[in-house]
Amino acid sequence: MHQSRALIKVVLKDYALPRFGIHGISHWARVLENGLRLARLTGANKEVVRLFALLHDSKRINETLDPGHGLRGADFAKTLRGRLFDLTDQEFDLLFEACAAHTDGKTEGDVTVQTCWDADRLDLIRAGITPDPRFLCTTAAKDPEIILWANARSESRLAPDFIHSEWFADNIE
Ligand SMILES: [Fe+2]
Ligand SMILES: [Fe+2]
Repeated sequence: MHQSRALIKVVLKDYALPRFGIHGISHWARVLENGLRLARLTGANKEVVRLFALLHDSKRINETLDPGHGLRGADFAKTLRGRLFDLTDQEFDLLFEACAAHTDGKTEGDVTVQTCWDADRLDLIRAGITPDPRFLCTTAAKDPEIILWANARSESRLAPDFIHSEWFADNIE
């Protein structure tokens, strides 16, 4: 998780919305935990899942409808590759697709991409939208137990400890 700190710093520098807002850092942290939990079952690439969590909403410009933010986040990821993270070409293609298309509501794709989308969608109840298994991609995410677990965390806007202890997110200028 520590290698996330430098990346978080760069993402927050230009993040246009409140850091602890609905699409901000505690959402990214829950998406990360959702994604890693799912990845154990789906076999998704964990590094892609981690980077998706930190970058997919980084270029949002409002808290409501912003259909272009997925592609802007994917383009932003391209500028950070080799500087703040390393991925193979194949892995980067997955990250790009996951970020670019997370706004499109699709369910078909590579299992790593699907796991990223599910990790995000399992955190929807914070915005008043109950995750619907029909719009989840993987069998792992459709498990009622996982949905209940994720809903409880999302509803209470749980901010995992590592936001403070490892990302030092409240000390970033
Ligand atoms: Fe988003
Ligand atoms: Fe998101």
